[in-house]
Amino acid sequence: MEDLYKDELEALAFHDKGEKPAGWRLSPKSLRTFILGQKKPLEYEGRSITISQKFFGNDSLVERCIVSLASSRPLLLIGEPGTAKSFLSELLSAGICGNSRNTIQGSIGLTEDMIKYSWNYALLIAKGPVPEALVPSPLYTGMTEGIITRFEEITRAPLEIQDSLISVLSDKILSIPELKDQPFIMAQRGFNIIATANTRDKGVNEMSSALKRRFNFETVQPIKTIDMEMSVIRSQASKLCADMKPELFDDSFISILASTFRDLRTGTSSGGGKFDRPDAVLSTAEAVQVYQQTVVDAHYYHDDEISMKTFVNNIKSAVIKDKEEDLKTLKNYVKVIAKSEEKSNDELYQEFAKQVAKC
Ligand SMILES: Nc1ncnc2c1ncn2[C@@H]1O[C@H](COP(=O)(O)OP(=O)(O)OP(=O)(O)O)[C@@H](O)[C@H]1O
Ligand SMILES: [Mg+2]
Repeated sequence: MEDLYKDELEALAFHDKGEKPAGWRLSPKSLRTFILGQKKPLEYEGRSITISQKFFGNDSLVERCIVSLASSRPLLLIGEPGTAKSFLSELLSAGICGNSRNTIQGSIGLTEDMIKYSWNYALLIAKGPVPEALVPSPLYTGMTEGIITRFEEITRAPLEIQDSLISVLSDKILSIPELKDQPFIMAQRGFNIIATANTRDKGVNEMSSALKRRFNFETVQPIKTIDMEMSVIRSQASKLCADMKPELFDDSFISILASTFRDLRTGTSSGGGKFDRPDAVLSTAEAVQVYQQTVVDAHYYHDDEISMKTFVNNIKSAVIKDKEEDLKTLKNYVKVIAKSEEKSNDELYQEFAKQVAKC
């Protein structure tokens, strides 16, 4: 994120007159602007820099996250898959300390060493437990450099491993009993943790109450409106395919994609109809991927013309991720919508429906 939005971050820091919490590069106000965007461009080094909106759908959530971090409270972003928890944590880290890469990835195989520190065994054998032999973890680096440590998918780690964070979060001290001269490190100002956790995936573990109490929980909800979801698909896919023709980011295709995903995710259509829901999550993140793949295919194989067949195949792959029978759910849904008053005269939708029926 700090590389992708380098110009925006520099321009914001240059114009930032607000008070900054200890160790932060931006004030909370400028950090909010970085994530939610602003219309008026900023003049910086003879250029006009537009601060784009990056996170959509819930401005007050972003404000609450910033306040939590400004008061040095660790933050846990929790929610369904693909709701931009990781994305938001990267944006917050890039804005606060210019580093969104200092990350621990939660997994079943995560060990306490990976959270705290480990040793370079060759040096350990040669010199004993000296500071040069210590291999720092992202948590250790966050504490010593006063930056954010991101903890991705914290509940994928076994509960007892997650709990090794408790003492660090309570006292902001990490003890290193092997180092006789300085058996602990203290967190520098600016250090904090932003963790993410998934509510719906298979393979997630419980979190102890003791650890829960040490985090501020914020739930990230899926995007509610079609317009907002379309904005995300358009802005993210065009960012990911920056060198492709702008005409490829066609609102009529994006609208079909966004409404199909939303209706199947919620089991209701905008006209009030009720539908079966597939097991697949069908998140906004997947909608972005589907559109990106469609655009890349159009660019390389179809002379920059979107192929309806590819578009439908990409949607199909997202829908039947969990089980083959979900294809029936997609087909039934599209058949009903194609006959609705709103879509019966919509040529593109009819073409879409024909292609879905062929799957
Ligand atoms: N509200 C949103 N605002 C902006 N982008 C969004 C939003 N929701 C989803 N996205 C898109 O989803 C992409 C991926 O989201 P991300 O990987 O952060 O989700 P996640 O919640 O961490 O998912 P997972 O639980 O699978 O790890 C983002 O890069 C962005 O393109
Ligand atoms: Mg994630």
